[in-house]
Amino acid sequence: MKTSGYNLKNSLSAKAASFALIVSVLAVYKISTAERQYFPTDYRKWHHAKTMILEEGHPLYEAFGGIHHVYANDKAYKSINKGAGRKFEDGSVLVFDLLDVRKEGNAVIEGKRKVLAYMRKNSKDKSLEKTGGWEYKAFGGGDPKNQIVNDPVAQCHNCHMQVKDNDFVFTEWRE
Ligand code: HEC
Repeated sequence: MKTSGYNLKNSLSAKAASFALIVSVLAVYKISTAERQYFPTDYRKWHHAKTMILEEGHPLYEAFGGIHHVYANDKAYKSINKGAGRKFEDGSVLVFDLLDVRKEGNAVIEGKRKVLAYMRKNSKDKSLEKTGGWEYKAFGGGDPKNQIVNDPVAQCHNCHMQVKDNDFVFTEWRE
């Protein structure tokens, strides 16, 4: 009897331990899911807003030299052509896709991806108050594992402040 009581107690605490383990695994899983980095994968099928080439000699050549394309998802597309005073709704995403260029036989040709950057609106997220509700991220080489923004105010938002009246988005829609 004594032995089986001991066994019962033992197996109960083993059950408690495995329960605790499951709970902590779930907690870790939940945290890592919440923190998992958003990464736009299908933006090439979004609305193409514009393209620009920055050549050597342009003041932003160091950071943004090359050819870039700007894309808007469906939510961002609804607001992008509204002009001054526009406000993008939550879930709006704008992508800045920067590629190298090479010149060949009087043609300018897209090269490798240099940076993939995005702005994603979530006005309910308190951590984005300093950046007007926008999350700014950029990925070196377009690699989801190489996120390079650690100070979004200094690295991104301060410059986007120039177009505060346009909800911090430079790009205007054109027909
Ligand atoms: C020195 C100023 C400057 C800085 C710094 C800057 N941007 Fe921009 N960004 C611009 C300009 C200007 C455009 C518009 C480009 C165009 O018209 O093709 C732009 C465009 C964009 C767009 C497309 C939407 C729009 O506003 O037109 C995204 C997305 C973007 N930037 C993200 C970022 C991120 C992320 C960072 C920080 C890593 C950043 N930017 C830093 C000036 C800047």
